[in-house]
Amino acid sequence: MNKRKNLYIHTIGCQMNIYDAERMGRYLYPLGYVVTPFLEMADLIIINTCSVREKAEQKTYSFLGRLVGMKKKQPGLIIGVGGCVAQQEGIRILQRVPQIDFVIGTHAISRLPQVIEKIEKNKAFVVDIDGISTIEDDVPCADDKKKDHVTAFITIMKGCDNYCTYCVVPFVRGREISRLPEAIIHEINTSVLSGVREVTLLGQNVNSYGQKQGLCSFHELLSRVNDIGGLWRIRFTTSHPKDLSDDLIRCFGNLKKLCHHIHLPVQSGSNRILKLMNRHYTREQYIEKVDKLRQYSPDIGITSDVIVGFPGESRDDFNETLDLINHVKYDSLFMFKYSDRPNAPATRFPDKISGPEKKERFEELLALQKKLTEKKHQDLLESVMHILIEGKSKKQTEIPKDKKSSMEQWTGRTSTNKIVNFLGNQDEDTDNSLVGKMIEVKITKAFPHSLWGEALTPLVKLR
Ligand code: SAH
Ligand code: SF4
Ligand code: F3S
Repeated sequence: MNKRKNLYIHTIGCQMNIYDAERMGRYLYPLGYVVTPFLEMADLIIINTCSVREKAEQKTYSFLGRLVGMKKKQPGLIIGVGGCVAQQEGIRILQRVPQIDFVIGTHAISRLPQVIEKIEKNKAFVVDIDGISTIEDDVPCADDKKKDHVTAFITIMKGCDNYCTYCVVPFVRGREISRLPEAIIHEINTSVLSGVREVTLLGQNVNSYGQKQGLCSFHELLSRVNDIGGLWRIRFTTSHPKDLSDDLIRCFGNLKKLCHHIHLPVQSGSNRILKLMNRHYTREQYIEKVDKLRQYSPDIGITSDVIVGFPGESRDDFNETLDLINHVKYDSLFMFKYSDRPNAPATRFPDKISGPEKKERFEELLALQKKLTEKKHQDLLESVMHILIEGKSKKQTEIPKDKKSSMEQWTGRTSTNKIVNFLGNQDEDTDNSLVGKMIEVKITKAFPHSLWGEALTPLVKLR
């Protein structure tokens, strides 16, 4: 029997990394490693890195700096770098920070136990970023997922073939490959048996699911998932506008369990920039799809990603982005300042936008979206919505002052993906008895990032 050791995983980046972190924990458990939430207690620390923007990569190196300080005081500490920066940089990370023990690429996670065994034995550093893993190598088995969750992420595909000119993902995650529908259904069935009520199907571009390999199409997969008994809600992300088919749009009207929310990254409102980005749609086509979505699902929540300051973006191009945002009226928006990424073609494009210019456009966008989100939230006041309760709310800051703060605050999401917080009905709401219940709430207060509601369903009955 191996001696118990503590593993701390620091994850930056998207759901792919969160998924990979789960797998790392599973692979290292037989070696005696148990995941700890306390950095200071760790015997082994892995940083699961993201490379999508410069800022994310910088976070890796600043965190590593902190760990190097820890290692001075605790020489036996093992430090490793995984995720997308590891895949991209390989041995260069070791050259920059020689105190680390290993670098493990995104395709090598199943070999993590061998890497750790080598380090424990030889005390020499290891770099493993080779090979291509199969998709089933890369997905966790549902039985190992945490048992107490009502929501679960289900990876349905990995990699990306789209090669948007600004993006590093195809280089660090490899070619697009989809899982078999049967494997996905099996994983969801098993999750449902352990209490999951809502699944989010994950991939860099779920709309092109199955096409390359001639599996079923994404809308067919959704309809199969919709038939799973005991499952209440289905979400998916991310959708590429070019692959959003009419069949899929119709699902929002036809499939009862499909939540009324879509994340549909537009990136820019200018046709010239969209072309330079290699996005394969125009603003007109994008707007047409949004209109159709609203035709089938009038209340649908639409969110998006926008990049400001792409090389060559003129003031006019940026104005077109503002104009599109004003037209579509997103529920919320993720905004990014363009940054050069290794291998991404746009890195070599001329006419880079200066830092201050990017900042100015970013602030302008932020102010516009803030107003739009506020208005959306205000419009929901007094409406009644169904929410799936996910747990107790961590943030206590947005409790209206007139409410008794000793009572527990609970949180859930609407079908349209809005966070709604509300109070339990008793001071002693200390257990998790409300988790996984669907209730009706009346929206009574609107905040910038969430809503506040009064439970209409009698909570006592739910226990
Ligand atoms: N596959 C998803 C997510 C990609 S990464 C998609 O296609 O939408 C998430 C977001 O990061 C992108 O949508 C884009 O807005 C942003 N992003 C990617 N590369 C970037 C870069 N080099 N600079 C700034 N933002 C970037
Ligand atoms: Fe990157 Fe484009 Fe693929 Fe999204 S669709 S991961 S932005 S290359
Ligand atoms: Fe980042 Fe890699 Fe995801 S680059 S966004 S962690 S696929």
